Amino acid sequence: MKGVVLAGGLGTRLEPLTRVTNKHLLPVYDKPMIFYPIQTLVSAGIREIMLVTGGRNAGDFLRLLGNGEDFGLKAIHYAYQKGEGGIAEALGLARHFVGKEKHVVILGDNILGDDISDFVSAFEKQKSGAKILLKQVEDAERFGVAEISNGRVVRITEKPKNPKSKFAVTGVYMYDQQVFKFIDSLKPSQRGELEITDVNNAYIERGELTYETLNGFWTDAGTFESLLRANILVAEKFGNLKSAHA
Ligand code: G1P
Repeated sequence: MKGVVLAGGLGTRLEPLTRVTNKHLLPVYDKPMIFYPIQTLVSAGIREIMLVTGGRNAGDFLRLLGNGEDFGLKAIHYAYQKGEGGIAEALGLARHFVGKEKHVVILGDNILGDDISDFVSAFEKQKSGAKILLKQVEDAERFGVAEISNGRVVRITEKPKNPKSKFAVTGVYMYDQQVFKFIDSLKPSQRGELEITDVNNAYIERGELTYETLNGFWTDAGTFESLLRANILVAEKFGNLKSAHA
């Protein structure tokens, strides 16, 4: 199984923190943000990883990550995304790296308390299709939201005003090779991006999307509030910080 970490974007929601650097290089407790999603893949046994990034600070990822020594890797593969075409476009850049293999995609600002090994193993056994990971949240309108019926995800809506459930679609996606065919058929959304939610809905239409629910903490880190939350959650789990909610 291969892994793809998506770390493009301008991080405008974190301006001015992102004026001279890439969002994914900002600190989350004692490490740069990008370390966490890479570690999530490596802990799940994934050793072949491509990082897709873009913008003016792309070279900093090379200087920071090198050949992946911090994670016990022998190499990290890199791809460059020109402009702001969205998550699905970024994944499309990994097509030649992934080939016909199943792969796990993780967004560079997603930080998980859970080990995902069991979910990855379950997907390895799945004949074809995709698997997504859901997490119950109170602010579902900030995310892709899954509507569930009879134990299946029947529809995902991107940032709905009135969410049909509390199940946010996290930025961890497992795909087979069909994903690139779906990406090719996408049209840009209202925000001018190729949406990963449209890719997932294409799998749903074929009856080929499964899901699992995360038990541990999950957060993105793309806004001031969620970046702070990510720092606190990680410090509580791995550092000396006593629970900030106590
Ligand atoms: C993206 C996806 C969204 C998902 C979220 C997870 O949102 O479009 O469906 O729930 O990542 O972090 P974005 O961060 O691009 O707003």
